Amino acid sequence: MSSAIKETTSAKGSGSDIDPTTASLTVGGKSHSLPVIIGTEGERALDTRKLRNESGYIAYDDGYGNTGSCLSNISYIDGEKGILRHRGYPIEQLARHSSFIEVAYLVIYGELPSAEQLAQFRERVRGNAHLHEDFRHHFQGFPPNSHPMAVLSSMMNALGCYYPNMSTNNRETDLAHFDDTTTLLLSKVRTIAAATYRMRMGRPFNYSRGSFRYVDNFLHMMFSEPYEEYEPVPEVADALDLFLLLHADHEQNCSTSTVRMVASGGANLFASVAAGVCALWGPLHGGANSAVIQMLEEIHARGDDGSRFIEDAKTGKARLMGFGHRVYKNFDPRAKIFGAAAERVLKALGREDPLLDIARRLEQAALADDYFIERKLYPNVDFYSGIVLKAIGIPVDMFTVMFAIGRMPGWIANWKETAETTKRIHRPRQIYTGPEKRDFVPIEKR
Ligand SMILES: CC(C)(COP(=O)(O)OP(=O)(O)OC[C@H]1O[C@@H](n2cnc3c(N)ncnc32)[C@H](O)[C@@H]1OP(=O)(O)O)[C@@H](O)C(=O)NCCC(=O)NCCS
Repeated sequence: MSSAIKETTSAKGSGSDIDPTTASLTVGGKSHSLPVIIGTEGERALDTRKLRNESGYIAYDDGYGNTGSCLSNISYIDGEKGILRHRGYPIEQLARHSSFIEVAYLVIYGELPSAEQLAQFRERVRGNAHLHEDFRHHFQGFPPNSHPMAVLSSMMNALGCYYPNMSTNNRETDLAHFDDTTTLLLSKVRTIAAATYRMRMGRPFNYSRGSFRYVDNFLHMMFSEPYEEYEPVPEVADALDLFLLLHADHEQNCSTSTVRMVASGGANLFASVAAGVCALWGPLHGGANSAVIQMLEEIHARGDDGSRFIEDAKTGKARLMGFGHRVYKNFDPRAKIFGAAAERVLKALGREDPLLDIARRLEQAALADDYFIERKLYPNVDFYSGIVLKAIGIPVDMFTVMFAIGRMPGWIANWKETAETTKRIHRPRQIYTGPEKRDFVPIEKR
């Protein structure tokens, strides 16, 4: 195939305007013009929506690394510069001045809330923490050692069954209930996560405490016992709030794209986030934070200071979990913030964790090593978050559940954006590489 893409302009546009100028693609001796789309931050894209109809060609982009699947107003990442912003606000400022619930509001509704809006939002989240009593039966239906992500995904869909008026798969109706569904999901995902933990520990479920803030309530539902109330250490609760805030949204990652994909077919918000939970489960996505702890524990157990492991990672025998990112080719800004939080939490708890020392050594070694430098592999948010979650007492196989609680605002916001703007079902093409047409062979002749 002879092809050439020529871009005719790089002017900066505003919002999601479609720039009047075009690029041209010459293929098979014929030229096709492709409109240029320029995002708010100057990101440029070639609009290939009509390409197949006009040329017979589609774009092949395994893994979608060069594909913009939507126009979105929610989050912005500049992976080369290590920038993450939600609705325009830098993550560093949000981490310093805001809270998870406030950032959830921002991500979902597009603006920072007024004091009154925030108070009302908090109140609605607080008032939605309970689960229907029949929900206990769902937990009893799972084997006690079920993976908490499997439980969470099922429970998200089960939840929708208790609110059929909010999960109709009729866009207008589901959008009309959006505010209620939102606070319900933000609140109950945390109750379900805590109940899953209690079930697995063989302990009674804890009812939520109306007066507690979001994270304190979660810690209470997780760790209070009938004979002893859990007293959260403020630094621990703050670190958990920060963890959730840092995970609130992250552009078109695997789970968020999944939510949008499911939403594009018209599925309700409960079903869409249930799919998001499944997508998040994998070790290359949300499962990475638990994989980091497993890796650090293995390194510790074999008496390695990290240097042997670095060599293994370079030869492909191992993968340095918590390093590298599809989009960030620089420090993940969340990793910087959370690396500092890990130190604070361990200090507040008066604990030393040899895994933190190994993590620090791995980071230093990798950042000075040509293999990692050339490939632009830097620590991502998962590199330190596992150490904090472990210090808080969250079991390793629940780390991804914590990620899901944090990512809920992003999934919700992306569902809303899709439901409000997408008319067409998301349906990529493929390039078929299987056998050509052949005739059926009767079984006795095979
Ligand atoms: C996140 C991740 C899936 C991104 O993958 P990607 O964008 O497809 O990057 P690639 O797999 O193309 O990697 C590019 C090169 O870096 C290497 N590489 C990427 N991540 C690496 C890691 N964590 N350790 C060692 N080498 C790594 C690849 O082997 C490849 O090397 P090559 O060019 O010699 O073949 C990948 O970096 C990874 O697996 N990281 C560990 C898991 C993790 O922390 N995930 C959480 C993400 S928030």
